[in-house]
Amino acid sequence: MKILVTGGAGFIGSAFVRMAIGQTDAGVVNLDKLTYAGNLENLTEVESNPRYRFVHGDICDEQAVDSIVRDEQPDAIVHFAAESHVDRSILSPEPVIQTNFRGTFTLLEAARRHRTPRFVHVSTDEVYGSLEAPLEATEQFPLNASSPYSASKAGSDLLARSYFVTYKLPVLITRASNNYGPYQFPEKLIPLMIANAFEDRPLPVYGDGMQVRDWLYVDDHCRGILAVLGKGREGEIYNIGGNRSLPNLDVVQKLLALTGKPESLIRYVTDRPGHDRRYALSSEKLMRETEWQPVMDFETGLARTIEWYRANAAWVARVRSGEYRTYYEKNYGNRGSE
Ligand code: NAD
Ligand code: DAU
Repeated sequence: MKILVTGGAGFIGSAFVRMAIGQTDAGVVNLDKLTYAGNLENLTEVESNPRYRFVHGDICDEQAVDSIVRDEQPDAIVHFAAESHVDRSILSPEPVIQTNFRGTFTLLEAARRHRTPRFVHVSTDEVYGSLEAPLEATEQFPLNASSPYSASKAGSDLLARSYFVTYKLPVLITRASNNYGPYQFPEKLIPLMIANAFEDRPLPVYGDGMQVRDWLYVDDHCRGILAVLGKGREGEIYNIGGNRSLPNLDVVQKLLALTGKPESLIRYVTDRPGHDRRYALSSEKLMRETEWQPVMDFETGLARTIEWYRANAAWVARVRSGEYRTYYEKNYGNRGSE
């Protein structure tokens, strides 16, 4: 089987590529633009494998996407490429419209023209919006996006679904909860807090820190995507959750305890505009249909993640130089305390 992966140099995409090369017989072609979030260092483990090939390109580039799908004739496309950060989408919404919506359209069109046999569109639980406890979103829940990022993902989900309904393109959609693990760009909650804690810098908790997220270890997510790729039904949506909901403050406190740093590092800062209060997801459908289940317990996964960041200080230093500093200043520089 040959898989065309988009965004395979990012956090989840690279974990998927390493898993697909390391644990299956598949060949992988990785199409990635190498934005600030894309990093070929994440793929050193597979770069010399004859079943792996990297193509530097933009999913919004119609010609490039058409030739790669035409020439490679992949058995499946697994589409991760996106602008994935909510805060950046609030500071500047245009890139999510371009990459997440327009880029998905470009890929769907190429898949339609060249009759790609399977198209897995990787999406997010954010499309369901904030849910009152004890609700858990099933795949039938309405879309209720709050940020430009989640709206662009909800839009691309609907577009992907329309290609199944209208053109019979074999599309499958996955919606996962918050991922964590090695190689995550330190703009997201867990790696940002780990990196700051290591340096005894303030840990900026938005609002009261009582927003609830469901945490999914990145390898559990990737196994879920492989399960959907192998056994999912065309035209269907599959939620992939970690079954571990926690308020952000609990996550930060656990992380401080594991790094041996004091809670006095916590700073309550001005909340994210439009901040969704609670996400919760039912993965019952995926578990029933494919026997997948999340296996990583959160405390073990968090400890493992912290150890990875400790052992990879040079990786962190490189990705936090340059553009990251500008972003950090823009997002946190003028944030008052709550
Ligand atoms: P990431 O930001 O770490 O990586 C994104 C990758 O896409 C990078 O390698 C980047 O270079 C590439 N990319 C961006 N724009 C591109 C373009 N125009 N053309 C080609 N490549 C481009 O993201 P991530 O956290 O690994 O998320 C991957 C996917 O999973 C996204 O679609 C995201 O919406 C979805 N998702 C993420 C989470 C999470 O918790 N991180 C949860 C659920 C779903
Ligand atoms: O739910 C899935 C989504 O999870 C994915 O679709 C997104 O791609 C991914 O970025 C993530 O979105 P979130 O906004 O939930 O992730 P983030 O790590 O940015 O924030 C997690 C929570 O922590 C959220 O409630 C905001 C809060 N937070 C985040 C940062 C970066 C803080 O309190 N302080 C911070 O500095």
